[in-house]
Amino acid sequence: MERINKYIASCGVCSRRKADELVLSGKVVVNEKVVQELGYKVNDTDVVKVNGKIIHKEANNIYIMLNKPKGYITTSKEQFGRKSVMDLIKEKERVYPIGRLDMYTEGLLLLTNDGEFSNKLMHPTNKIEKTYIVTTTSNITDKQIEMLKSGVDIGGYITREAKVRALSSTQIEIIISEGKNRQVRKMCSSVGIKVTNLKRIKVGNIELGDLPVGKYRYLTEKEKSMI
Ligand code: URA
Repeated sequence: MERINKYIASCGVCSRRKADELVLSGKVVVNEKVVQELGYKVNDTDVVKVNGKIIHKEANNIYIMLNKPKGYITTSKEQFGRKSVMDLIKEKERVYPIGRLDMYTEGLLLLTNDGEFSNKLMHPTNKIEKTYIVTTTSNITDKQIEMLKSGVDIGGYITREAKVRALSSTQIEIIISEGKNRQVRKMCSSVGIKVTNLKRIKVGNIELGDLPVGKYRYLTEKEKSMI
């Protein structure tokens, strides 16, 4: 027996948190009955439907690292006329991006069909660090770096402390452990840094390394255990 949200996540549908929302909004049906109780428990013989579709546990969990190119959106839904990271993944198992990189950001994107793994990485309480390289055209000052480190206002939200260091006069490394929408771009903009390139190179201890742009590989057992 396991909680309904854990079951839905392990079927690769979404994170546990999203699963709770689905339950509360009456989108989850177990053995033909709508279930809206968060702690509801199911077992493997129960027939669980989400949004009218029967869901199954994934027999084969796969874990992928993609070097996302610029110009691709991160979504598992089809969006007409836009290039999606899903176009780059040639797997028979359906995988889902873990979090997002915005359209013009490149670099490390993880994808999986393991909702539990995704949940662990995404859950704010786990404070998984994400490392980005920001490139700009003008000189970055020590003052700007100090402001980014201590937290800045990105439109009504003060960012938590970040690790920031200069790599050159026009390039910095920023490590954040939260993931607000377009956070790094907004942080830079709030201190007057105009981002010309943004690349994610690390999530937790998993590093992009020299994976070519647009290519993907499977995570190693060691990398999977790092999360
Ligand atoms: N911060 C951004 O601004 N964009 C991303 O894609 C990720 C973090």
